[in-house]
Amino acid sequence: MDIRIFKNEAEIGAAAGKLFCDFVNEKPDCVLGLATGATPVPTYNYIAEQYAAGKVSFKDVKTFNLDEYCDLPKTHKNSYYTFMIENLFSKLDLNLDNVGFLDGNAADPEAESARYAADIASKGGIDIQLLGIGRNGHIAFNEPADEFTGESHKIKLTDSTIEANSIYFDDIPMPRYAMTMGIGSIMKSKKIVLIATGASKAEAVKAMINGPVTPQCPASILQQHEDAVIFLDEAAASLL
Ligand code: GLP
Repeated sequence: MDIRIFKNEAEIGAAAGKLFCDFVNEKPDCVLGLATGATPVPTYNYIAEQYAAGKVSFKDVKTFNLDEYCDLPKTHKNSYYTFMIENLFSKLDLNLDNVGFLDGNAADPEAESARYAADIASKGGIDIQLLGIGRNGHIAFNEPADEFTGESHKIKLTDSTIEANSIYFDDIPMPRYAMTMGIGSIMKSKKIVLIATGASKAEAVKAMINGPVTPQCPASILQQHEDAVIFLDEAAASLL
């Protein structure tokens, strides 16, 4: 793991955003794996600024997102698809036909998982995957479990995740299920960039970096990835 510590989330946004823009400039038709949550927002803002300044283009880039809530219309204001449109896609010259998303309303989650894996493989696999981390060490929606997950699947969210994310749901109850890329799908990415900011992530960060590799802390699997870069602010790194 390549661990980089910054003063605050603005500095991380610039550093991680630059890493992604440099990557796209080197490989303009690359495949990006993208994440939702509050953590990547400064990174997305930096990328959008670079695009607005004419420093990078996404017209040939393909993207795949990590996860999506179940039982929520795709265009609901709290869907992860809407989050990506609002926070990034609408600000770039990205072709929406090149945007890959899991269908949280798929009648057959297994078939949907197979479709997603085949779609990713047909584009050559994910070149660089952005990740956040949950307070319980989850990545995407892979919650602590007895075994590491494989490919995409439907998952029941834990109380910790429901508590953390329900602040965003002011009109309807937060969904209890989600479709998520599995740990196996994430580990296939050629490069992984995980960002963690704030004291609420310090325990999870410590377990991810210094703890054993265990499905009880899904992010700990990144210790075994050949090219994982971890961006931390001082608060998230405070227990290392
Ligand atoms: C969510 C997402 C994850 C995200 C994590 C942390 O539940 N499924 O992809 O990394 O929780 O979110 P935040 O960045 O808002 O703390």
